[in-house]
Amino acid sequence: MHALLQWYVAAGVDEATDAEPRNRFDQPPPPARPPARPDATVAAVPVAPPAVAPPNAEYISAAEIAAGCANLAELRTAIAAFDGCALKRTATNTVVGDGNEAAALMVIGEAPGAEEDRRGLPFVGPAGQLLDRMLAAIGLDRSSVYISNILPWRPPGNRSPTAEEIALCQPFVERQIVLVQPRVLVLVGGISAKALLDKREGITRLRGTWREFTAPGTAQPIATMATFHPAYLLRQPSAKREVWRDLLAIQKKLEESGE
Ligand code: URA
Repeated sequence: MHALLQWYVAAGVDEATDAEPRNRFDQPPPPARPPARPDATVAAVPVAPPAVAPPNAEYISAAEIAAGCANLAELRTAIAAFDGCALKRTATNTVVGDGNEAAALMVIGEAPGAEEDRRGLPFVGPAGQLLDRMLAAIGLDRSSVYISNILPWRPPGNRSPTAEEIALCQPFVERQIVLVQPRVLVLVGGISAKALLDKREGITRLRGTWREFTAPGTAQPIATMATFHPAYLLRQPSAKREVWRDLLAIQKKLEESGE
């Protein structure tokens, strides 16, 4: 038994989830849409018809739920109540955004890791500590930045999220962007950059140049910079040189775009 456990650990299995296997295709019905609140601060937007066929019924449901949320508190509650993504069943916590909800800068990562899942907050593990130091280098901290992820639930064992999981949860992160309305958006890592810029290239090609992000409800296109993920920098410190250049460009853009 001990040898079997050692073999599991060596193979990257670091958490027990269930004693019995589960049928992940046996999804529960999509959750009911939350009622609109009378004190809404941002108007709910109609859901634009998708350009391509949606991957599945849950995607529509997430898009409708997100579009019906008029503020971040409502969206947070709706994401926590959403049962359409199987990742939620193996996660300890739903991890939505953290920081200043009126921030000029918003940072989007990939998905919660082990520490984030335990504490229910984004970027609080080793990669998050490096992200804090990156922000501090350009005079920012969590009181001036809003931080979130593409996925609100940790993929088991920190595996890469699937294309279906990303598409399913994307309306939630897009609605967060619309509700925060940052002047500048920073996408850390390839998963976040490819999903929100709708590109196929990897992060090495996407980083370092200004692009625009738009979604249903954005008042105007948001200046967007992709850069390397801090978890990658922990493994590959030599890439910090490029990230430093990106950070300086982000600082300049914030100064230029300040009211
Ligand atoms: N990596 C991410 O992309 N997000 C987190 O919240 C933590 C680590």
